[in-house]
Amino acid sequence: MFNELNRRFSVPGLRFEQNHNGLISVVIQTAVCTGELFLQGAHITSWRPVGHEPVLWLSQKSNYEKGKPIRGGVPICFPWFGPNANDPTLPAHGFARLQDWQIVDAQHKDGDAIELLLETTIDPFRLIFQVEFGAELKMTLKTQLPQSAKSSQSYEDALHTYFSVSDVRTISIRGLEPVSFMDKVDHAQLKSATHCPILIESETDRVYVDTLSDCVIEDAQGERAIRVTKLGSASTVVWNPWIDKSKRMSDFGDSEWPSMVCIETANVGDSRIRLSPGESHSTTAVISVQALPATSFTGES
Ligand code: BG6
Repeated sequence: MFNELNRRFSVPGLRFEQNHNGLISVVIQTAVCTGELFLQGAHITSWRPVGHEPVLWLSQKSNYEKGKPIRGGVPICFPWFGPNANDPTLPAHGFARLQDWQIVDAQHKDGDAIELLLETTIDPFRLIFQVEFGAELKMTLKTQLPQSAKSSQSYEDALHTYFSVSDVRTISIRGLEPVSFMDKVDHAQLKSATHCPILIESETDRVYVDTLSDCVIEDAQGERAIRVTKLGSASTVVWNPWIDKSKRMSDFGDSEWPSMVCIETANVGDSRIRLSPGESHSTTAVISVQALPATSFTGES
């Protein structure tokens, strides 16, 4: 089947591959970046703009198997976020990251970028994921509720982006200083804004509420800053499992937690999206990287 896909979407810089478990991925290599996306989950696992180290984080212990989530990259969470509120036996973060998506278009764009268009259906919604691999990584999840739907429907979504950092204990995250948050590691309490950049000093699992702001990961030791710009997203989730939770996850290495942080472009909780029949909503995240001067990291805390 991946040979057939290579014939149908013959775009310079793009090829389809299949792993030993039968999962098909799109591999991108252009003058401006490399990247990879698995059709299962429309799951981006890699993006590396030329001149930079890989931007997305992937666990060495990740599964790449049918029906199992990939640990790292950009899982798409839909139609709920976290455990299902009514049925804990349903998969965490919904079905979108577990099911096969269809690739419907692949195109070369200006600036040596490659744009992919993928679709799937999660009853009653139709999902379209548009991703542009270029000097920036642009992702849009468009959710449509068909006109034929019997009633309005609501959902949660997240572009659950795992970023690679030099050491999570030395980064700061800017952009959420004035925003209150639900603290999932402290009885889901709603806490007031801290008015400070976020430092990761213990297990962190926070849903920042009512924020449309960009976030910047300042990684002075890694000599770069990563910016997440978003549209159509009213929640931002910040997650690092730290020591104990890492050990409890079978697909996450015990000592991998310092090398990652998640900044998730989301609509969750009270910011869930409600659509009437015929309506649609788009959630967009754009990732860019900027080199920081080596001198800005002193190593002092
Ligand atoms: C985060 C949640 O978005 O995803 C965390 O806020 C959760 O609570 C994490 O642990 C990973 O989820 P999963 O289902 O991929 O292990």
